Amino acid sequence: MKTNVSLRPYNSFGFDAVAKQFAEINAISDLQALIQSGALQHQKTLILSGGNNILFQSEVFDGIVVYINTKGIEILREDGNDVVVRAQAGEDWPDFVRFCVGKGWHGVENLALIPGKVGAAPVQNIGAYGIELKDSFLQCEAMELTTGETKAFTKEDCRFGYRESVFKNELKGKFVITSVDFLLKKEAPLHLEYGNIKAYLEQNGIENPTLQQLHDAICAIRDAKLPDVKQIGSAGSFFKNPVIERAQFEALQKDYPTMPHYDEPNGMVKVPAGWLIEQAGWKGWRDEHVGVYDKQALVLVHYGGGKGHDIVELARRIQDSVEEKFGIRISPEVNFV
Ligand code: EPU
Repeated sequence: MKTNVSLRPYNSFGFDAVAKQFAEINAISDLQALIQSGALQHQKTLILSGGNNILFQSEVFDGIVVYINTKGIEILREDGNDVVVRAQAGEDWPDFVRFCVGKGWHGVENLALIPGKVGAAPVQNIGAYGIELKDSFLQCEAMELTTGETKAFTKEDCRFGYRESVFKNELKGKFVITSVDFLLKKEAPLHLEYGNIKAYLEQNGIENPTLQQLHDAICAIRDAKLPDVKQIGSAGSFFKNPVIERAQFEALQKDYPTMPHYDEPNGMVKVPAGWLIEQAGWKGWRDEHVGVYDKQALVLVHYGGGKGHDIVELARRIQDSVEEKFGIRISPEVNFV
């Protein structure tokens, strides 16, 4: 256990918060020992994974940060077309996707290059290009922070939703995901429908992409739109895409006929927050330290030297101005700590 550790290398926004206590977990037994030592009792505990979806609002985290860094990928079962793979929570997500694609296993390729670690992926049911984590999720194991006992969670137990799960809601702060099992397929149709995948493939003269070509295309599309967190601090999409009533959408469509939208199963309509923010005039806005990314308005960025509070303030101004223009209150996807 270390004390007064800078969290700057541990959050993709690059804010300089200090953790009063910091424990790195390299094996599940480390976590069990930490729980049994009583160190997590009577103080704030933050389970930190890749730190890619977190905003430290203040300069001190007055508690203990438990940094999960366990490694390992193993095949649990191969059965006809199915492969069940277990990855430990601290495995890097983009590396895990690359590994699966390299083996020819389908299921996570559209989630290429999403920064973060495997253990955090179910917490917000990461998603991109028409696929969500839940589509290939089989189960995960998680350790209860009060008892040190491990419990398996099925897909149903996780109650996945759009960037939601039970771990972000009812069980927030109660369990640490230690490993995730995926059900992947040796043969499966590729998902090319979303956004500009097809256009990208066409432009590059690829007619029937292989799994690897699809993976590489998604990496290229992401690279073109999203900042590299090694260069510019960000947490990917800062807001969720709001889901609104059809009646409200139809009323808005009269004023904004080009408004992009996706139909939701329950008659609701999802509207891209990036579009709303751009229309409200924020795309590319910046002050000295923070701003709105010029290639994707859904991404708030930290250029350096700023504080978490600057992003909180900017987010609030954006929410207010989008609400004023469209009557829609967008809500953050990022976790505020
Ligand atoms: N748009 C704009 N202006 C912008 C950004 C987007 O007009 O500045 C429009 C686009 O033209 C498009 C629509 O909004 O018509 C959707 O944009 P895009 O395809 O870039 O996706 P998104 O809805 O903004 C979501 C995820 C991303 C994921 C992409 C691709 C959320 C909150 N975000 O963004 O996930 O990579 O789809 O599938 O659902 C993340 O969660 O951190 C993340 C990056």
